[in-house]
Amino acid sequence: MTIAQDISLASSDKTAPVLRVENVSKRFGTFTVLQSCSISVSEGEIVTLLGSSGCGKTTLLRCIAGFWAPEEGMILIDGHNTVPVPVNRRPVGVVFQSYALFPHLTVEGNVAYGLRMRGVPRSEISRRVADALESVSLRGFENRYPSQLSGGQQQRVAIARVLVLEPRVLLLDEPFNALDAKLRGTMQIELRELIKRLGMTAIFVTHDQEEALTMSDRIAVMQGGRIEQVAPPDEIFDRPATAYVADFIGLSNFIPCKVRDGKVTLPDGQSVATKESDTVKVMIRPHNLRVTAQGTGPWQGQVRFQRNIGPLIEYIVTAGEAEIRVVAMRQDRTRPWSEGDAISLEVIDPEYCTIYPAV
Ligand SMILES: Nc1ncnc2c1ncn2[C@@H]1O[C@H](COP(=O)(O)OP(=O)(O)OP(=O)(O)O)[C@@H](O)[C@H]1O
Ligand SMILES: [Mg+2]
Repeated sequence: MTIAQDISLASSDKTAPVLRVENVSKRFGTFTVLQSCSISVSEGEIVTLLGSSGCGKTTLLRCIAGFWAPEEGMILIDGHNTVPVPVNRRPVGVVFQSYALFPHLTVEGNVAYGLRMRGVPRSEISRRVADALESVSLRGFENRYPSQLSGGQQQRVAIARVLVLEPRVLLLDEPFNALDAKLRGTMQIELRELIKRLGMTAIFVTHDQEEALTMSDRIAVMQGGRIEQVAPPDEIFDRPATAYVADFIGLSNFIPCKVRDGKVTLPDGQSVATKESDTVKVMIRPHNLRVTAQGTGPWQGQVRFQRNIGPLIEYIVTAGEAEIRVVAMRQDRTRPWSEGDAISLEVIDPEYCTIYPAV
């Protein structure tokens, strides 16, 4: 029995995580690229690694796939340490950023390739290839070559080629990079629905926060080789654990405030309880602010810039030293504030602010 077979047969406990990354560190020479990264992925879950360029997303994915060996830590699939298992024996399938399709093989040839290499019988190959092409809606394209397909179709062939091998964990490294913005949006929804329909467990890599919010059951935000927070998209957006996560996801205003008697007083006079002490940074989302007529509140400012973005109106308000961003729904526009208007700012829900140490 191969180690891969052993691993795939060992999954008896359905509640145990399929993939566990434990304290993985990876260095290239003296440069530490991953620092003690830990993450667990459950059966059927899509977890996204999100972070800016160079933070270590691809390196972590390559460690899981087996292309790199970490210096420290363990990577377990169905409870078995995979670090000693060679790439071609790991029960994982990788979809790369460049689809890496074979140009001289047809769609059918590309999808069948991995099964042929594994010596799967011919009748089983044609059944499994047909199923995989069906699942990505590419029946009828069997005899085309990659150059005769659109970017989105090539991308689906790349996914079918991995799905056909029935991996325990699907790894996708920025699979939509080559697509235009509109197709990307459609493919995100399609791919999420496909992974869910097949009940697959997946790790998805992107540096695009909207893509992460669309695709994921949970998001792991990475910075400088560390995982800063792992949580469902809503929690990442609404309750970012660190100022870095708050700044990275969505728009945010950071306002230095003083803590007194366990409370922070916001610039509009409202207060919020906090466990922090001394000086803090309060993060207020732009849609948690309201622009009102000057004279109605203590937080006075002037509209520096105003623009309409489809259903939203965005303001940049100068208030003392600070530049504050405000976003309102267009139908909320009780009056059209313009550049130069003197206004007041109000926090809509003080409890929706998050508070961080000032350092
Ligand atoms: N083989 C290598 N040798 C040395 N350094 C490397 C190697 N591969 C990656 N690095 C470095 O490790 C860091 C993390 O790279 P990685 O490719 O994991 O980033 P990433 O988060 O995937 O970035 P991107 O969003 O640009 O794809 C970078 O600073 C990169 O230069
Ligand atoms: Mg990368």
